[in-house]
Amino acid sequence: MQGTTHVNALPEIAVLAIPEDERVWVPQAPDVWFRPLMLNRMAGQWCNLLRVRKSGILSRHLHPNPVHGFVLRGRWKYFEHAWMAETGSYVFEPPGEIHTLWVPEDVEEMITFFNITGSMIYLDENQRHIGYEDVFTKIDMCRAHYAACGLGADYVDQFIR
Ligand SMILES: [Fe+2]
Repeated sequence: MQGTTHVNALPEIAVLAIPEDERVWVPQAPDVWFRPLMLNRMAGQWCNLLRVRKSGILSRHLHPNPVHGFVLRGRWKYFEHAWMAETGSYVFEPPGEIHTLWVPEDVEEMITFFNITGSMIYLDENQRHIGYEDVFTKIDMCRAHYAACGLGADYVDQFIR
């Protein structure tokens, strides 16, 4: 019997997670950026680094699917929870979780790895849906930013599977 070749496997990704080139960070909101690592169209999932500088806020949102986070640098909290995520913290956000991410003023910068499945649904103060993100909106944002900053729209292709 012949051994398997695995010739149909997708190519791996191995990159310096915190990039040397500032242009790799995609602006998301005032004082908020993300750095794509893996954009998975088959599972509707994405892995990225989130970078937030002091007093930056990631608007209130709902996760219909699970999220895993690991803090590489700095400190942050959700307005909706008492705990503070510190460098080295692991965070699990179960389906149904609603929160607003905030970085305290005494923290220059936080960087956290997030593995997100499905979507993020942005909510107003009355829990009404006001926007969403998924792997496809993330890819679109990357393409637009990389085209504008000179890296080229196809720079994002290396992260897409
Ligand atoms: Fe979240």
